[in-house]
Amino acid sequence: MIPQSFIEELRMHSDIESVVSSYVQLKRRGRILVGLCPFHSEKTGSFTVYPESQSFYCFGCGAGGDVIGFIRRIENLEYVEAIKLLAQRAGMTVPEDAAEDRTAMLKTRILEMNREAARFYYDRLIEPAGEPALRYLLGRGLLPKTIKHFGLGYAPAQWSALTDMLAKKGFKYEEMEAACLARKGRNGGYYDVFRDRVMFPIIDLRGNVIGFGGRKMTGDGPKYYNSPDTPVFKKTKNLFALNFAKKNGKLPYLILCEGYMDVISMHQAGFTQAVASLGTSLTSDQCRLAAAYTDEAILAYDSDEAGQKATRRAIGLLDEAGIHSRVLSIPEAKDPDEFIKKFGGGKFKQLIEGSAGAVEYELGKIGAKYETDTPEGKIMALKEAVNLLAEMKNPLEREVWAAKLAADYGTTKEGILSQVTAKLRRKARAENQRTSPAAVRAAYSDIIPEKVKNPAAAAAEERLLGAMLRNPEAFGSLSGKISGSDFVCALYRRIYESAMNAAAMGYELSLSVFGEGFSLEEQNVIARLFTVARESHYTEADALDAAAAMKKLREKKTDEEIAGLSGNELSAYIEKIRREKSGK
Ligand code: CTP
Ligand code: MN
Repeated sequence: MIPQSFIEELRMHSDIESVVSSYVQLKRRGRILVGLCPFHSEKTGSFTVYPESQSFYCFGCGAGGDVIGFIRRIENLEYVEAIKLLAQRAGMTVPEDAAEDRTAMLKTRILEMNREAARFYYDRLIEPAGEPALRYLLGRGLLPKTIKHFGLGYAPAQWSALTDMLAKKGFKYEEMEAACLARKGRNGGYYDVFRDRVMFPIIDLRGNVIGFGGRKMTGDGPKYYNSPDTPVFKKTKNLFALNFAKKNGKLPYLILCEGYMDVISMHQAGFTQAVASLGTSLTSDQCRLAAAYTDEAILAYDSDEAGQKATRRAIGLLDEAGIHSRVLSIPEAKDPDEFIKKFGGGKFKQLIEGSAGAVEYELGKIGAKYETDTPEGKIMALKEAVNLLAEMKNPLEREVWAAKLAADYGTTKEGILSQVTAKLRRKARAENQRTSPAAVRAAYSDIIPEKVKNPAAAAAEERLLGAMLRNPEAFGSLSGKISGSDFVCALYRRIYESAMNAAAMGYELSLSVFGEGFSLEEQNVIARLFTVARESHYTEADALDAAAAMKKLREKKTDEEIAGLSGNELSAYIEKIRREKSGK
């Protein structure tokens, strides 16, 4: 356990405004800062940073917390790892307590193993046994310096070449299994996952080897095998070669393609902005990641049916992340790798320069799909085109395309634009419903299940906690008036008790007090309590009032409790209520 005193000090050295600013563009609005939420996709900023309380809260998705919670979410880290990252940033040293953090330890071990494995595979490539693999790569047109740059390698055709080496270096078989480098066989022994394959290490932005892709050179069965997700690798959150593509500052564009070999060929030909999604279709996390480096993507997917489908899907996802797409059509080759090999880098450059804008490409496809010389065909095509225009953020861009469509289809620009506006209204309504306070509340129902049956009690508890958190001086006046057992909602009870403990220990009451013992979802709830308290200007009197309300509700028995009362108890209870009602 990291001592709370260290967390407090770390917090003082990790100003939330400056930490968040390196991920989110914030605009100051008086005492708060506002920006686009990095945790859900939105077009107007509901993500709010409160420098005074060193906290954040998103009114759209309900994510909230302190600076540590922010880092955990955005970097996808465990609590202790987030602390370490912030400490590093602040130039502080975390008090060591090794046994505490098994996952962080395991992650370090996996990264060490991956690095050893990458070096091992690379070394095998230049040994006699690796000659077929080296020949294969050279035969595919790669230069030795490219092979070295990407750290490509060869996994020998043996059952335990890598596992034996790792075991000799002191790694445990369970650790190799967690890294997905070894697998347990039926006889209880362990064997290498990658055998007789050309190896492509996957490297993250910090230079860690986080996984591998392995390509078979001959034989049937799947051509590629990729590391599955491990504690250090989430394939939906990484882009292959982004580590090489990344420069300081924004790139004019990234080239997005399907495969390892496409990326490598493009880099070799000088197109070092090429990246690939890793054997999966593009995800919104990958788009958000890309958006940190560029505003424009050139889609260079395979020219087959599947590639075209993936292109269309990617355009939408990228647009949501604020990335404008251009689409490359690759003639007379199935993918960028083949094209470059056949026609050379110069020709590829021409393709890129001439790549059609995504809109032109889409409109062309729509036009080709329908018989646009019939009225019915025209209507169908225009309907689809309107949907496409409604996806555009810039109203000027919509006007330009509406004018072009009007000319192409013999209709009016105004007519098309009014359809687009209607579509946008419908979309906005749907979006509102998704992120309304009601939706946020519904998401909380799993975390605070008691709230559904006891809304009044939950509301009083929320008011009490909010008022307490905002007015720590209320703690004194509350003691003796209320206790953990007065709470109906278990989560609120835990929050209350943690707050009381923190107060007793003399800690300043902030979101950081609720760090380790609470899940991220629970921290969202706490951040919301803080936010509501701030906006409602809760005072100490509110705390006392809410405490009284809780007591009163507690005395009122629930239907189930009443059903379980004996005759005498019931009469006494009814009598009591009657007295209360008559004001006595
Ligand atoms: N892929 C995969 N598993 C497969 C096939 C493909 O993970 N069984 C992924 C790989 O990341 C691969 C990408 O999808 O790089 C594109 O696949 P494909 O077009 O079939 O391969 P190419 O990149 O053309 O591979 P190569 O040029 O090596 O034949
Ligand atoms: Mn290929």
